[in-house]
Amino acid sequence: MAEKLIIFDTTLRDGEQSPGASMTKDEKLRIARQLERLKVDVIEAGFAASSNGDFEAIQNIANTIKDSTICSLSRANDRDIARAAEALKGANRARIHTFIATSALHMEKKLRMSPEQVLEQAKLSVRYARNLVEDIEFSPEDGYRSDVDFLCRVLEAVIKEGATTLNIPDTVGYAVPELYGNFIKTLRERIPNSDKAIWSVHCHNDLGMAVANSLAGVKIGGARQVECTINGLGERAGNCSLEEIVMAVKTRRDYFNLDVGIDTTQIVPASRMVSQTTGFVVQPNKAVVGANAFAHASGIHQDGVLKARDTYEIMRAEDVGWSANKIVLGKLSGRNAFKQRLQDLGVSLESEGELNTAFARFKELADRKSEIFDEDILALVSDESVTSEKEQYGFISLSQHSETGERPHASIVITVEGKEVHGESDGNGPVDASLKAIESNVKSGAEMVLYSVNAISGSTESQGEVTVRLQNSGRVVNGVGSDPDIVVASAKAYLSALNKLHSKADRVAAQG
Ligand code: KIV
Ligand code: ZN
Repeated sequence: MAEKLIIFDTTLRDGEQSPGASMTKDEKLRIARQLERLKVDVIEAGFAASSNGDFEAIQNIANTIKDSTICSLSRANDRDIARAAEALKGANRARIHTFIATSALHMEKKLRMSPEQVLEQAKLSVRYARNLVEDIEFSPEDGYRSDVDFLCRVLEAVIKEGATTLNIPDTVGYAVPELYGNFIKTLRERIPNSDKAIWSVHCHNDLGMAVANSLAGVKIGGARQVECTINGLGERAGNCSLEEIVMAVKTRRDYFNLDVGIDTTQIVPASRMVSQTTGFVVQPNKAVVGANAFAHASGIHQDGVLKARDTYEIMRAEDVGWSANKIVLGKLSGRNAFKQRLQDLGVSLESEGELNTAFARFKELADRKSEIFDEDILALVSDESVTSEKEQYGFISLSQHSETGERPHASIVITVEGKEVHGESDGNGPVDASLKAIESNVKSGAEMVLYSVNAISGSTESQGEVTVRLQNSGRVVNGVGSDPDIVVASAKAYLSALNKLHSKADRVAAQG
């Protein structure tokens, strides 16, 4: 019997730390549901002490998700740990993940603590956490750049205090596979009680080696938990990507000889949901979930695949959840058919009110677009105005005029705290004019740092999905909007970003 590799997903915590990827409570819950369908073993739902919003998001997830262990991050202090335990109260299985930096650089410059103080703090925190919850993970932050003798002392001590999982982060993405694998192996060999805990890898992708390093940690080091995110989302160059690690271990089972419990057919839906929610578009040539990952363009490849698929295919597209664009619904589809399709896609809307709003949106869309694909439905329910009733800003209508040789002009009606207001502006193009028309009322002063458009189902008839990233007073947020008219999609995306700027409280940074 092969051993199991535990999949620990941190999309909702480390992934969300990526600038602009912050998610609302409802968005986090929706993604957590998808992670449960994917059958991830552990969902790191957030960092409870970082903000009230994150606390409530973890609480919601803990109260709803039944099959996966729910975890909260916490710094190594009693207040953070108590807050994490409180947020996790409703969970079937709860885990506290506490961390403190152990590299000389971090201890001296960031924490301003001596190694002995860090060791003591780590022990006290794990002891305290273990009194509240049975399942305790400990991470020595910047572990890979820490002195190995000191790290051995810290890890041996926290195992004695009751830590059940030891995670070795390559916090800055500095490791290379062989060295990282051997580092974990050395720790396991040198620490006398190392067999009392499960060893875990947590790799960042700054040098593009997060997946390779994690696999080396598993193969050479004997780690049995991998921490990863959907689409490799995460700060800077991101984290180890879940889809790549899972498919590597499954496809090369002959080499890794490990089992993973993931339902791989849920990988592409999860990837789409995370991308649509955060506005982080997946590059076309991304392994497993990129639009080209299974496209054979060259004649030789196509010929080979037609004769025998395994000439050029090592995985089957359908096994990771790719399905050909299917026309699923149309103008004549009723509320029940719509509800059923949402269920098939794993989307459950909280209330009848949300379902009614989503159905009204669907009807509006079906009037303008004869063929409705799964992607359209997912985009529609990702729209915040379907799931949250009380937004600061809402879209009502837009008219714009552009003609060769003339400066485009837009006139827009939006709601501000429920009241209709009207704005007008010229601009360099119709999108520019429309967003300036919004600003003429809102006067947010936010700086736009990214604008991108993507055709949801790949043709000019499809809906445009627009991502807008705004920055204001040091905060960065992404807004996503979709509509068959890309100027309207842009206005919706802009308003969605403004809503996020308006609503999100400041948070404590996990590694701050
Ligand atoms: O990268 C890191 O060090 C982390 C820890 C908080 C586990 O995310
Ligand atoms: Zn990390």
